[in-house]
Amino acid sequence: MTAVTARAHTNIALVKYWGKADPNLMLPQTSSLSLTLDQFYTDTTVEFDSRLTRDMVQINDQLLATPASQKVVDFLNIVREQSGQSAFAHVTSVNHVPTAAGLASSASAFAALAGAASRAAGLELTPRALSRLARRGSGSATRSIYGGFVEWQAGSDDRTSLAIPLQETVDWPIAVVALVLDPHHKRISSRQGMQSSVTTSPYYPAWKSVVAQDLATIKPAILHQDFSTMGEVLESNAMRMHALTLSAQPPYSYFNGDTLRAMDTVRVLRQAGQECYYTLDAGPNLKVFCQTPDLPAITQKFAEQFGTEHVIVAHPGPGLRFLS
Ligand code: PMV
Repeated sequence: MTAVTARAHTNIALVKYWGKADPNLMLPQTSSLSLTLDQFYTDTTVEFDSRLTRDMVQINDQLLATPASQKVVDFLNIVREQSGQSAFAHVTSVNHVPTAAGLASSASAFAALAGAASRAAGLELTPRALSRLARRGSGSATRSIYGGFVEWQAGSDDRTSLAIPLQETVDWPIAVVALVLDPHHKRISSRQGMQSSVTTSPYYPAWKSVVAQDLATIKPAILHQDFSTMGEVLESNAMRMHALTLSAQPPYSYFNGDTLRAMDTVRVLRQAGQECYYTLDAGPNLKVFCQTPDLPAITQKFAEQFGTEHVIVAHPGPGLRFLS
């Protein structure tokens, strides 16, 4: 049996995925668009071993017991079904996401697992097939197969719901400043959060048209390196996604006090001529897009406000690759 190691990077959505159409197949309600980041990634090694009596899942040096390992086991079952491989597997995964950064690692984790597990099981999948497979683990993982700007096309079934690269190599001096405002695990998972938004927010139908419009505006903006248009769209898209949480029943929010303070700082920076725009996912940590000439002034401002160790700078990153 051969051990295969794959590395995948996490991504940040500029036009968000927030709602499943089919929770089993992980088909989304809408398409979405992201940027893969260089700083945060997962290395995962998989080896199928006929002597094992169950899957052994180790993450960051910790062996997981069930039910913690269940999502990985479910994913391995999909790979076994596709490949005909019947053995259990050793899975060893290391998340290179800065300590307690509170940044989502499920995108990089399931993209790396899709790569390592499929190849270790004897499958040679194309990037499109890998993207479809990663989707079964976590929606955002669909996009982490590719580097740069990536669109996940919602599609209508397992075959057509996959990511395609919009621009894999980003020749544009942009950066994403990740602010670590609360390192703790989110209280409401994205899975629960999106489900309650779809079923209870009266604004959900409007969200679907917002996404269609935002995708139509942001794609040419990215290709023409129109930073202002891209920034305006990504910021309003994030706020409109979060409006679904505020309008759900019962209502909830991922923001904390520091989130609101950091949003204010982005506005202050913009007024002072340092153009930057924020986005945030299912947690309180802001990610601020800027152009690299403005990076020193922007990071300094946030370091003064929250402390240097809470400010992490990332740039566009690469897609999935095999390390062995
Ligand atoms: O990959 P999931 O199922 O954890 O969903 C992630 C959803 C958001 O991060 C909030 C948005 C997105 O498009 O990545």
